[in-house]
Amino acid sequence: MSKKTYSRITTKTLQELKKQGEKIAMLTAYDFTLAGLVDQAGVDVILVGDSASNVMAGHETTLPITLDQMIYHASSVVRGVKRALVVVDLPFGAYQADSKEALRSAIRIMKESGAHAVKLEGGFEVKESIERILKAGIPVMGHLGLTPQSIYKFGTYTVRAKENQEAEQLLFDVKMLESLGCFGIVLEKIPAQLAEKAANSVEIPIIGIGAGKHVDGQVLVLHDMLGMSKEFSPRFLRRYADLHSIIHSAVANYSSDVKTHDFPNANEQY
Ligand code: KIV
Repeated sequence: MSKKTYSRITTKTLQELKKQGEKIAMLTAYDFTLAGLVDQAGVDVILVGDSASNVMAGHETTLPITLDQMIYHASSVVRGVKRALVVVDLPFGAYQADSKEALRSAIRIMKESGAHAVKLEGGFEVKESIERILKAGIPVMGHLGLTPQSIYKFGTYTVRAKENQEAEQLLFDVKMLESLGCFGIVLEKIPAQLAEKAANSVEIPIIGIGAGKHVDGQVLVLHDMLGMSKEFSPRFLRRYADLHSIIHSAVANYSSDVKTHDFPNANEQY
């Protein structure tokens, strides 16, 4: 049977893809040009991740990025995308205080950027916020396992939920997020067996990053998978290009051409 093609990905499409056993491809993007490229290449979901704090702004963690900055990135991405579902991270500080603030932040993202859904980190502790956002008609994606906004609580970026108690809590939270009405969940850096169990326990898609292959889809940070930097090398990261070397040599060649009077030549002027 030939695969169904979709001209526009919605939250419903993602549920269908899971039912049909077709894996979901998700990547981050933060600007118009790269979002357009990612979309044209057929990725199903584009995440305007708060990893923009790291790869776009150079911060050590995801904590400093603001709601205004996320909205700026998200609206640039939305202008470049025709097919993919655009999901935007609620940044640290925009939803933890109380559920009303969470809803206000989610509304700002949807209204000011034109994105299609929001994602937020956490399980039981953000239940009320998720309920309130969903009640307003805004699709919500969950994020469990390693949740980088809590890095100072964890103290390390190592694999989460290796112990029974944390694994049980994660499975409980996965079920809870589904019953609240979340359309999908990102599971970050947890044992592959646990991620598989989680994916088999719910009907909504589970998207993994460092969570093995037996989930419903995968997500990576675009800059990491394109090899823009040589420094970040976790085991789960597969590099599909070495843009660091390509960009470095292109820029070095340009600089050298300018300095040696080679650029511009007679054909490159008016
Ligand atoms: O911010 C981000 O890029 C993310 C992904 C790592 C899932 O949340």
